Amino acid sequence: MTSYPAMLAPGDKAVYFTAARDFYSGQGAIVDAGVFLGGTTKCLVEGLRGNKNFEFRESEKPITAFDAFKVYSEPYQKYAAKCGEQLEIGDSFRPLFDRLLGADQKWVDVREGDILQEQWRPDDFIEIAELDICKGVDLTKRAADLFFPHLRPYKSIVIHQDYVFPRQPQIAVMMEALSPFFVKIAEAASSAVFLCTKNISSQDMEKALADAFAPDNAISHMRSARAKAMSAGCYFILTLGAVRLLAESGDIRGAGNILDSLQSEASDWSLDITPLHKKYFAETADYIRLIEDAD
Ligand SMILES: C[S@@+](CC[C@H](N)C(=O)[O-])C[C@H]1O[C@@H](n2cnc3c(N)ncnc32)[C@H](O)[C@@H]1O
Repeated sequence: MTSYPAMLAPGDKAVYFTAARDFYSGQGAIVDAGVFLGGTTKCLVEGLRGNKNFEFRESEKPITAFDAFKVYSEPYQKYAAKCGEQLEIGDSFRPLFDRLLGADQKWVDVREGDILQEQWRPDDFIEIAELDICKGVDLTKRAADLFFPHLRPYKSIVIHQDYVFPRQPQIAVMMEALSPFFVKIAEAASSAVFLCTKNISSQDMEKALADAFAPDNAISHMRSARAKAMSAGCYFILTLGAVRLLAESGDIRGAGNILDSLQSEASDWSLDITPLHKKYFAETADYIRLIEDAD
């Protein structure tokens, strides 16, 4: 599991493994959305193998994995090349997923295709929703719409792989708008785990999503999300997310001011701010300049 090729840090892998081993009761389904070569899938399978409350039956595949399985950027090609496959943009990486996951595929119902076109099985409640597919606002809303009405209070968790990641601030914005239905219970590496605390109807979802992405609301949701950060590192990253949103809304000066104050605040956090945080800081400063130059 630790050496399985994946776009995951060890802390993320630990979250998936632990959720499947210690949280999963076997009563509901596990969604693994955005599997790429199966890194999250492998961690979930290993966790289930160690789960003392769960007995595996091959006829009832506990994990449903969603992915388009199409190479659409260079990093995908690099991962494939490390596994001995030369793939071009547009090629399928499904054969590589099949080869790497091997016999462990018996735990998984693989749903290949665009998640924007997928449906969930209406009678199956979801115990673990692993979301590594919230790339941009449309996919984030779609994943929530598709899966959240099938969560059960105090029985279901959502793991957002990109929550602590400055390029996807819409995830924190959306989860804040949905805060009457969730409580954040853990953060590790780029992931955050949310426990569902209340049933979410499709109408609730529609209302919350409209609220989340209303232009005036996103920044204030981002600030509330930041106030709930469980570490200085998460606070730092969510602040960078807020900076991106402000710059995208046209407030370049406001974005620059927040970036400056973050730099002075973070000078006291030398133990928590890693080279990766510094890389994200520089990337966000470049992003603001890019937007400014384009205007
Ligand atoms: C960051 S990668 C996932 C990394 C993976 N979880 C791992 O453990 O290495 C995001 C995945 O989402 C998939 N994806 C992106 N947009 C999609 C869409 N509209 N429908 C289905 N899959 C999509 C991509 O094919 C990619 O495999």
